[in-house]
Parts: sequence; C-alpha cells; structure tokens
Amino acid sequence: MKILSICGSPRKGNTEFMLRTLLKSAEYSGAETELVLLREKDIKFCDGCHACKGGSGKCSIKDDMDEIRDKLLLADVIVFGSPIYYDCVTGLLKNFIDRINPLYTKLKGKKFAFVIVGQLKGKDGEVSRKFIIDFLKNISDIHEMNFIGYVYGISVDPDEISKDEQVIKQLKNLGKKITQQ
Ligand SMILES: Cc1cc2nc3c(=O)[nH]c(=O)nc-3n(C[C@H](O)[C@H](O)[C@H](O)COP(=O)(O)O)c2cc1C
Repeated sequence: MKILSICGSPRKGNTEFMLRTLLKSAEYSGAETELVLLREKDIKFCDGCHACKGGSGKCSIKDDMDEIRDKLLLADVIVFGSPIYYDCVTGLLKNFIDRINPLYTKLKGKKFAFVIVGQLKGKDGEVSRKFIIDFLKNISDIHEMNFIGYVYGISVDPDEISKDEQVIKQLKNLGKKITQQ
C-alpha cells in the first residue's frame, strides 16, 4: 500500500510533525509512505486555460506538479496536511488543489485523510475548524475519494504539537486505520 502525503505548511512546524507521526505509524503497519513538502516545490498558479477540461488529464503548465500528479495516481491513500490560515488551508495547499484539476475523476476510490492545526481554542477554534474541515471533505467528495478521517491540533509555536500526547495518539491511530479500512 502506497501513501502519499502533501504538506501545505510554509515552515517546518506542527503540520509536518503531524504528518510524519501519522506516516511512521502507517509504515509500522506495512505501508510505503512519501511526504511531499509543497514549500520546496516549484508549483505555479493554475492559469485557468482549461486544457484539463473534459477529463483530458492534460495541464499546460510544466513544473513540479507533473511529477506529483504521477505520484498521486500511483497512491492508494492520499493525506493532506495544512495549518489553518484564515479558517482555511494555506495558499500553498489551495494552489496545489487547483492544480490537481487535471486529475478530476482519476482519484476516484482512493482513500483520503487530512491533518490540520490552528492556534485558536474554544468556540473560536471550533468555528475556525468547521470551515477548513468542510472544505477538505468537499475536496474529497469532488474527487470521489473515500474519506477515512482527520486529526486536528491546537498549536502556535512550530514544535508545540510534538508535546501533545493526545494528538500524537490520534495521529498514530489514523495512520493505522488508513492501512486497514
Ligand atoms: C496568516 C496566518 C493565518 C492564520 N489563521 C489562523 C486561523 O484562522 N485559525 C487558527 O486557529 N489559526 C490560525 N493561524 C495560526 C496557525 O494555524 C498556527 O500557528 C499553526 O500552528 C501553524 O502550523 P505549522 O507550524 O504547521 O506551520 C494563522 C497563522 C498565520 C500565519
């Protein structure tokens, strides 16, 4: 089983830690995993040319997305990770999502999970999370993927989530679950 995870944080911080923890657990259950750090990739904005329309699978832009789209097609499980920015995913991840439009109908049936982290607590945190959770579930639905689950963390400093035992446990459980369900 191949798991491809996509990290949308612009820094080495909580999201990357969460994805690595989840992937380590999945590897323990026998999965082959890969982590793509979008901040290290050359991914241009979708220019709306519609070369991909009608399921052609084509994209007129030549950059690192060519290689990542191939990896997505080979993956059995796709895991997105993002810090919450203004109640949604980061610009890095949103840009990536726009650029998977050529894969419309081609990711059907793949398992999908995500991890998110934001700084807001209590009611404000709930409101902030609702938007991004609905957004990512909708991406899963649009691509007809099989949504497995998500983990959220509450942190600000880059190494903060690594001290949250409860979140680490949830990440390990989700890592195991995506290899089994
Ligand atoms: C531009 C910006 C917008 C943010 N917006 C939110 C938000 O809407 N809700 C929230 O809970 N946290 C918000 N945060 C806090 C980050 O989500 C938080 O610091 C998170 O831990 C960053 O994850 P990372 O370490 O993986 O980069 C924002 C941070 C930045 C820089």
